[in-house]
Amino acid sequence: MKPRTEVKIGGLVLKNPVMTASGTFGYGEEYSPYVDLNRLGAVVVKGISLEPRRGNPPPRIMETTGGMLNAIGLQNVGVKAFVADKLPWLRQFDTKVIVNIFGETVDEYGRVAAALSGVPGIHALEVNISCPNVQRGGHVFGCDPEVSGEVTRAVRSATDLPVIVKLSPNVSDITEIACACEAAGADALSLINTLMGMSIDVERRIPHLRNVTGGLSGPVVKPVALRMVWSTVKTVSIPVIGIGGIMETDDALEFLIAGATAVQVGTANFVNPRVTMDIVEGIEAYLARHGIRDVNELIGSLKTD
Ligand SMILES: Cc1cc2nc3c(=O)[nH]c(=O)nc-3n(C[C@H](O)[C@H](O)[C@H](O)COP(=O)(O)O)c2cc1C
Repeated sequence: MKPRTEVKIGGLVLKNPVMTASGTFGYGEEYSPYVDLNRLGAVVVKGISLEPRRGNPPPRIMETTGGMLNAIGLQNVGVKAFVADKLPWLRQFDTKVIVNIFGETVDEYGRVAAALSGVPGIHALEVNISCPNVQRGGHVFGCDPEVSGEVTRAVRSATDLPVIVKLSPNVSDITEIACACEAAGADALSLINTLMGMSIDVERRIPHLRNVTGGLSGPVVKPVALRMVWSTVKTVSIPVIGIGGIMETDDALEFLIAGATAVQVGTANFVNPRVTMDIVEGIEAYLARHGIRDVNELIGSLKTD
């Protein structure tokens, strides 16, 4: 018998725990020659804001040891063009569509959430709180428990869709932010977003990225992400989605065993566009090999004594 792979994230039922990570899979179209979107647990689309954004000037991607740095600057088509031009194509697939959102103010987060609510074909919102807080002098929303809670509340009260809050690892204690988001009404948490980093061209003595600093992702971040997911799972009672350096099946299994209910695959899509399919098949094969009838039996099964 085929093992069961269905998982629940709040009210959202996924046919398997494998999703794409925001910003690494566009709105799905470019990957469709390689990936059968019907076989994904969910597609998480590129972050959407109220108005379109052009992002940062290039160079904005740099390969580093064991990963990459990016400073795309949240380039996106804006909420109206997403609903009019991108969503209709995604609707043809039997998969869940999760829209990653962000705003420059708490109020804007609420307005983006409201604009996407009730739109057919959107199954959940993922709230990226790793953006500069313009209202409070350029700090990042997700670094302050109080502001993280405010953003979560603004989105929660603007929509009936499941709300997943995506946490930043650039904090001293991620569990503190996690608790604040749970208390403010988040249905689930996803972590981690990229770690702040930089890299320098020593010949020219200039930063490789025009923006100087960027977000670090890829295999190099996995141990950090895993530790943060493990600590967060123990602290909150809502589901946690694991993200960070998942390049193959065993990486995804590590997050599930640590307690993540589902995973997102990011940078790996740039290396192998079929990787999500390999991981879906790999998880099924692992469950069968170990005689596990339901993936939920595997989730949080880490032995530490
Ligand atoms: C090029 C690029 C663009 C990204 N854009 C977004 C975004 O728009 N919103 C967001 O929440 N995360 C964004 N991320 C972060 C990823 O979704 C993910 O959290 C991070 O890359 C860690 O996972 P990975 O190591 O599997 O890539 C982006 C990452 C990359 C590499």
